Amino acid sequence: EQQVYNNLDEKLDRLLATLPKAKGWRSPNIFLHKGFWLSPTVFKGLLAIHEYFHPQPTDIFLAAFMKCGTTWLRALMFATANRHRYNLSDHPLHRTGPHGAFPSLDTQILVDFPVTKFDHLPSPRLFATHFAHDLLPTSMTAPRSTCKFVYVCREPKDALISKWHFMNKVRSKELTPLLFNEAYELFCNGVSEYGPFWEHVLGYWKASQESPEKILFLKYEDMKKEPSVELKKLAEFMGMPFTAAEEEGGVVEEIVKLCSFENLSNLEVNKDGVQKFNTQLMVENRDFFRKGKVGDWKNYLTEEMRERIDSITETKLKDSGLSL
Ligand code: A3P
Repeated sequence: EQQVYNNLDEKLDRLLATLPKAKGWRSPNIFLHKGFWLSPTVFKGLLAIHEYFHPQPTDIFLAAFMKCGTTWLRALMFATANRHRYNLSDHPLHRTGPHGAFPSLDTQILVDFPVTKFDHLPSPRLFATHFAHDLLPTSMTAPRSTCKFVYVCREPKDALISKWHFMNKVRSKELTPLLFNEAYELFCNGVSEYGPFWEHVLGYWKASQESPEKILFLKYEDMKKEPSVELKKLAEFMGMPFTAAEEEGGVVEEIVKLCSFENLSNLEVNKDGVQKFNTQLMVENRDFFRKGKVGDWKNYLTEEMRERIDSITETKLKDSGLSL
């Protein structure tokens, strides 16, 4: 088992020595692997996933670029999948916080030594990942595999603002803060953990167009506008549609309320609790909840900055059928 671990470290060191590197938003450096920027810690997680993760046919993955709604979707997926197991008024989400509800594959695969097997999770197993579609093993992504993906995307300018705030909170204390103008420049050039943003979104968008039964593509803004409609879509996709009796009984609205920004951000566990992703990454739960609004970018971007991002988005998404 020690050998397994050493092999991963050696492989990672060999790869890192050959790859282009840039300034990281949280750690000093990130590395460009197959078109996407990764920090060394999650890169090691990716290697572990490729070598040791065994997807089960019923697995459901929540995938997203950072700060696009993972916390919210995590809560919704967990509450929906387990609605017959737990009472909504006395729910584990009240105590564990959304990030305790199910594992982040990227980091938690390396929490147990040498790799976490996840055998203890109930079926369907739920996992979150920020990795781009094309970086994941085909055992998870190929249309012939029956695993499912729920992808949530967000308007890029709001994703940038949210990510800049969050990364400065979790940024290594030995580093100087990342100034907004620098983050903006890096983001526009595609340089940030798990990015470029646009290629990340397009990878899942295209795959969802090819295999809609395998990938559900959601937007943060649609969820803010009509949470119940999006939740019903989600439940159906997960193979657990709400029954007429459940709908009449208000279960959909109850889950929406349980998982709302207002409810979750005011829970004790999300004010004082801490999420330990691995030995190097601990995040205070309160940092996952900032404003939860659409359009906060207006408080940060000049007209010129807005125009530049919008024009990048337009160019990248041209002919894709996707608008953000
Ligand atoms: P803001 O920084 O714009 O407020 P992620 O969960 O993927 O890390 O994304 C974090 C963003 O989602 C933050 O956005 C956060 O405030 C918002 N968020 C967290 N929980 C939410 C919820 N239950 N409903 C809506 N937005 C939520």
